[in-house]
Amino acid sequence: MASSVKRIALLGATGSIGRQALEIVDQHPDLEICALASGSQPLDELAQAHGVDHFRVGGDLTELLEASRPDLVLNAVVGFAGVEATLWALEQGVTLALANKESLVAAGDLALEAWKRGGSALLPVDSEHSAVHQCLEGRAPETVDSLVLTASGGPFRNRALEDLESVSVEEALAHPTWSMGPKITIDSATLANKGLELIEAHFLFGIPYRKIEVVVHPSSVVHAVVRFRDGAALAHLGHPDMRVPISYALTYPDRRATPVPGLDLAAGVTLEFEAPDHTRFPLLGLAREAGERGGTYPAALNAANEVAVAAFLDRRIGFLEIARVVEDTLERVDGAPARNLEELVEADADARRHAEAGLTNAVTS
Ligand SMILES: NC(=O)c1ccc[n+]([C@@H]2O[C@H](COP(=O)([O-])OP(=O)(O)OC[C@H]3O[C@@H](n4cnc5c(N)ncnc54)[C@H](OP(=O)(O)O)[C@@H]3O)[C@@H](O)[C@H]2O)c1
Repeated sequence: MASSVKRIALLGATGSIGRQALEIVDQHPDLEICALASGSQPLDELAQAHGVDHFRVGGDLTELLEASRPDLVLNAVVGFAGVEATLWALEQGVTLALANKESLVAAGDLALEAWKRGGSALLPVDSEHSAVHQCLEGRAPETVDSLVLTASGGPFRNRALEDLESVSVEEALAHPTWSMGPKITIDSATLANKGLELIEAHFLFGIPYRKIEVVVHPSSVVHAVVRFRDGAALAHLGHPDMRVPISYALTYPDRRATPVPGLDLAAGVTLEFEAPDHTRFPLLGLAREAGERGGTYPAALNAANEVAVAAFLDRRIGFLEIARVVEDTLERVDGAPARNLEELVEADADARRHAEAGLTNAVTS
């Protein structure tokens, strides 16, 4: 166990990941919160409870990070708003525990360059990527054949296409296995989440897209599988509980105990797998295509998806319109690579403009 105190900047402290991270931090005296951030919810009480001087509601996250100088940044902000914090941590060589997958999807190339310069540890918090990280640890890259990311399939796994048109926001928010914030819950229902994770895995592990497979696994017990060149495959199993990957990232490499029980295999664990249905869930294929095209196509996919999900949650568009808005946006943007953050922000804004226009078409058509 490391002897010194690890000072953690918790960005997205009021969210689903943020709250679970605080639960983990409270169990370990050598983990300390040095900065807190949220989007709009007040932080005064939380800051007082944790003796934190540096906290910020909205605004520039990098200013907060500069002022608090953490040992580890846990980026649990939702959406593109997390990009600058990810780039800051990677550039500064500060350990990054990354839940905010959107930042790696949108800024993958810039993030890899910053990571190379900064040389810090990048610890995925997404359960599938944490699982891959654990299966890959200590393995020579040339021994790895391919990755498999599992998807629960969401609440509409067995719904017919014609019934998906009319599903309600409440139905889409009722995830069968994971309890999460609203945006990622809708992304899980459309399989956009697995598309974002596919792109995230490509950047995190340097594996080509054709070597990353997605399979639907309704019980969410197997989080990922790594296949090796000798025909062996290593899988990571556990209860679907985010406290495990959060704790893994915050206490790496110690793998401290968590309140989550181990799996009781003899009590019955269902291990069923099936191929995803791209007709009913086109966002997974759109994400793969955007990833393979590269440049700012993944950023455009992410931006359009954020706009469309927000519109669905506001009941402005139907469930199936989310994919249509994203597809339409991808056809309209130029996808030119971003050489710096300013160009990335411009590509993101451009995609949002196209997506907003697409929303109007979706509503009036
Ligand atoms: N939840 C999960 O189980 C899970 C699993 C894997 C990956 N993830 C990823 O983790 C991230 C967070 O997910 P979540 O489910 O925890 O979302 P959430 O419950 O909606 O929480 C989002 C957090 O981000 C904050 N936020 C939003 N905009 C911000 C801004 N501009 N500046 C600073 N903070 C901002 C929110 O603050 P307010 O409360 O003030 O709005 C809130 O604290 C997402 O990228 C998601 O894909 C989540």
